[in-house]
Amino acid sequence: MSLRAGPASTTADGYALRVADVTKTFRIHHERASSLKAFIAAGGRNRYEDFYALRNVSFDVAEGEAVGVIGHNGSGKSTLLKCMAKILTPNAGHVEVTKRMAALLELGAGFHPELSGRDNVFLNAAILGMGRKEIAERFDEIVAFSGLEQFIDTPVKTYSSGMYVRLAFAVAINVEPELLLIDEILAVGDVTFQQKCMEKFVDFREQGRTLVLVTHDTGNVRDFCDRAIWLDHGVVRSDGEPAAVIDEYTETMLGAQQSTETEGMRRGDGQITIQRVELLVDGVPVDRFRTGDDVTVRLHFEASESIPKPVFAISIASFTGALVTSPSSRNVGQIPDAISGSGVVDIELGDVPLVPQRYVLHTEITGYGRQRVYDHLQNARTFDVVTGSSSETHGVVTLNPVWKISGDDVVPSLE
Ligand SMILES: Nc1ncnc2c1ncn2[C@@H]1O[C@H](COP(=O)(O)OP(=O)(O)OP(=O)(O)O)[C@@H](O)[C@H]1O
Ligand SMILES: [Mg+2]
Repeated sequence: MSLRAGPASTTADGYALRVADVTKTFRIHHERASSLKAFIAAGGRNRYEDFYALRNVSFDVAEGEAVGVIGHNGSGKSTLLKCMAKILTPNAGHVEVTKRMAALLELGAGFHPELSGRDNVFLNAAILGMGRKEIAERFDEIVAFSGLEQFIDTPVKTYSSGMYVRLAFAVAINVEPELLLIDEILAVGDVTFQQKCMEKFVDFREQGRTLVLVTHDTGNVRDFCDRAIWLDHGVVRSDGEPAAVIDEYTETMLGAQQSTETEGMRRGDGQITIQRVELLVDGVPVDRFRTGDDVTVRLHFEASESIPKPVFAISIASFTGALVTSPSSRNVGQIPDAISGSGVVDIELGDVPLVPQRYVLHTEITGYGRQRVYDHLQNARTFDVVTGSSSETHGVVTLNPVWKISGDDVVPSLE
């Protein structure tokens, strides 16, 4: 985690941050010539090329704006934030920062491993421009926010990554930066901490401060940002209303995924295998459906010999890896005595409570005891859930809550 103090210049004219035509390249060295012959063939040089991590990127961030930066892995998001934080210097173009800035970039940097949490708080807050007296006054609040009271005198090298993030975030938010840059770190914290951070973001915005957040959690961008910027191979592909940018981004990613989708990872004896997995809504194959839809998962199998008492199973996990459910035909006692040739298994899922995001589906066919694996297909397919019967966007499922608010003096809404 890196905490950086930004210059607090006075040239503000409505924007907190200006990225002007920024290009950043990295030199990629190809494998060294392994023999004299190869060296001569390469023209006597070890070859390299300049890789464009960012290409002519320009935008302004207005004071008080919360901007979410999204994009595929390797699209240049972290590079962009490092340029903003002045950790990297662009090859062309420039970045202007008019506000007091704090940046939480990748894990590891910024803290002194041998020093205690306490010493690191003082060190970091000082780097961010806080006086010693001010830090001392704020110290308890910082530690309380981090929840690390018990470990504050332990060297941070013994901290877990989540603990690092807690401390770094607690410092960064408490030095009251006017501009905060955050790169994908909240994902490391646990749910309680993520929640606390979100609350802080809301306060932060209400106080008219500026936030640039890199994240793969498009739900957060939808909920917390005024604007989204989509980076695609180092270029700004779209910049605007979060909902519109995210939809465009998700569509494109899905399209790309389908055309390049490789076979999932397969293991098993193979006497019976899953040939294909379909998702059906009203009998129509789909790649996506809405929260609350009735969905049938159809497995097409093919057996090269007679399989006694086969058990079919599927697992559904969120794209980030949380297992949602893992039902099997054995759970409900659907065990044919034997099966051969080809056929289909339909798994009917009613009123699917999954919240909008991407999911992965795995399949498995085993013997009755489940030790013998005929076919296990990891990542058999992915699918997306979009907004339907619920407006919940966090977590993985909605429990379709019914809310009732009562009390001595509750003024009902007129709607
Ligand atoms: N120091 C470096 N040297 C060489 N290449 C680099 C360096 N830093 C980044 N890159 C390359 O620049 C590209 C952009 O990387 P960057 O870390 O900015 O991506 P990202 O959008 O943050 O990805 P992710 O979502 O995985 O965090 C990648 O192809 C990466 O390999
Ligand atoms: Mg990154």
